[in-house]
Amino acid sequence: MIKKNIILVGFMGSGKTSVGAKLADMLKMEFYDTDVLIEEQTRMSIPEIFKLHGEEYFRQKEKQVAEILSMKKGCVISTGGGFVLQPHNMMHLKNSGTIVWLKASLESIFQRLKSYDSRPKLYQKELIDIYALYNERNELYLRYADICIETDGKTIDQVTEEIYKIII
Ligand code: S3P
Repeated sequence: MIKKNIILVGFMGSGKTSVGAKLADMLKMEFYDTDVLIEEQTRMSIPEIFKLHGEEYFRQKEKQVAEILSMKKGCVISTGGGFVLQPHNMMHLKNSGTIVWLKASLESIFQRLKSYDSRPKLYQKELIDIYALYNERNELYLRYADICIETDGKTIDQVTEEIYKIII
């Protein structure tokens, strides 16, 4: 039985939610997704939160969720792509477990992402801005990750299996 949490970080479309759910299933651990927790708590979708209350409000909710999740043990936690923006979040979760970065090229992210309108940070944005965001974020994932998994060209099952083998 694994006592530590396993925390998945990475850019939007890197597969955190699908891999997290699968990994939790394999390891018989509880699964949490920070975006889902925020949506449940606010009873709003992520685009609605951004539209009605703005990004700052959403980041405050992420902070609250980080504090709650850091008290859990033996869970798989998938985080939103911007979760790493607040050092507070990462400090809390790093103390609670292992941070796994699902690394993906921008090309594969574009291929994987089906809906942009559900992601306010990408919706109606210029390619150059998405590229800048991607580079900024990658620096943060690199800073905090204990383990980095390359996901390009791999299925959800293959990525999950890879993490499983390292963790077990
Ligand atoms: C965000 C990523 C999204 C979600 C919100 C903001 C970001 O999560 O938290 O739209 O700032 O990168 P996913 O990475 O699950 O798409």
